[in-house]
Amino acid sequence: MRDVFIVSAARTPVGRRNGYLRGWLVPELLGFVLDEVTRRIDLDPALVDDVINGTVYQVGEQGFTLARSGVFASRFPSTVPGVSVNRQCGSSLTAIQLATGMIASGTMDVVIASGCEVMSKYPIASDFGGTLPDGRGQGTPFGAFYVKRVEGKIYNQGQAAEAIAEKWSITRDECDAFAVSSHEKAHAAAQAGHFDREIVPTKGLDADGTQITVTRDETIRPDTSMEKLAALEPVLGTKLITAGISSPVTDGASAVVLMSGERMKELGLEPIARVVASAVVGSDPVLMLTGPITATPKVLERAGLAMDDIDVFEVNEAFAPIPLAWLRELGAPAGKLNPCGGAIALGHPVGNSGCRISITAVSELQRTGGRHALVTLCTGGAMAPATIFERA
Ligand SMILES: CC(C)(COP(=O)(O)OP(=O)(O)OC[C@H]1O[C@@H](n2cnc3c(N)ncnc32)[C@H](O)[C@@H]1OP(=O)(O)O)[C@@H](O)C(=O)NCCC(=O)NCCS
Repeated sequence: MRDVFIVSAARTPVGRRNGYLRGWLVPELLGFVLDEVTRRIDLDPALVDDVINGTVYQVGEQGFTLARSGVFASRFPSTVPGVSVNRQCGSSLTAIQLATGMIASGTMDVVIASGCEVMSKYPIASDFGGTLPDGRGQGTPFGAFYVKRVEGKIYNQGQAAEAIAEKWSITRDECDAFAVSSHEKAHAAAQAGHFDREIVPTKGLDADGTQITVTRDETIRPDTSMEKLAALEPVLGTKLITAGISSPVTDGASAVVLMSGERMKELGLEPIARVVASAVVGSDPVLMLTGPITATPKVLERAGLAMDDIDVFEVNEAFAPIPLAWLRELGAPAGKLNPCGGAIALGHPVGNSGCRISITAVSELQRTGGRHALVTLCTGGAMAPATIFERA
């Protein structure tokens, strides 16, 4: 197998629901990031063998094959193909894993892995339950087989997060404290310019509809406090989960260029990081969001590394109980977890998040001189991809 390197990375700022990014046509948002990630290294887009893009709600502007319509909306020639993948919230980390496999096997040399999701337009569950053009119901993916599989316990994501909190005895106070810390870390990182390397200044709209250039993630709330969070009422049919301890509904796009070492040298490019190992697991479908707990040791074993060898852990903060249960189960030092804050503060445009947190993780390695970063996300349908990167 050949070594695979990330040689360029870029992302839009994350936009709040109906916020900065609301005016974008989704393929154009992806096309914009594809252009940026290749311009950054002066790469001729004709050399890209494929674009593998993660998007969860593949309908409307995000339907057809968003990777291909993103290519059409970019400066890339029409000879560059594209494919969309969906592993729920893990989609764009899966895109990175698939791109890595294609390059490592020698099938391809240059692949862009990306993520793109505009939840403002296509909220959760947009891809089922609707009506077809001829008036028939679209149906849902959850038949009697699913009810049987989960023994009748059909939880939404919030209810699954609540069940996880119950299993690991995680309290509301712990969740609120975790959310405060996520906002504090994200705010500090933004103020210090730690996201500047990864964020491409992006056209957006302010509250009045005036066009502006956006360089900051829109969801960070620096005034988050235990008192304010304690005052929030539970949502999503739970007694625990509030808007404050959930990842907010958001928009965003991100991309990385992956390359074989040979092609990188031929083109005179410098690596940002090497992909060390990848894994993916299926987990308990009732608890749904516990996959990172088993994906972590699995990817460590594949890499021949231990928890102590990892300098940065990015465990997606879909809801506070997910990283808290992961911490409790695996005993990682809390200081290495999501050092720039996580999705509670930075948002979680579902199909975009795997690529976004991978970019933030490798950028943090570059900034701090750390060596290894481990990235993992829980997903709908109870799975979790995990990948380890090494600073090059
Ligand atoms: C949890 C959820 C239902 C909340 O929806 P919502 O009520 O529309 O949430 P918002 O983010 O708009 O926040 C509502 C209010 O809570 C309060 N709030 C939220 N976060 C806060 C914070 N950190 N500090 C203080 N107040 C806060 C604010 O008053 C906010 O209103 P405002 O935006 O007008 O200031 C929604 O964010 C959600 O579905 N998240 C999960 C998405 C998901 O499942 N992703 C996949 C994961 S597997």
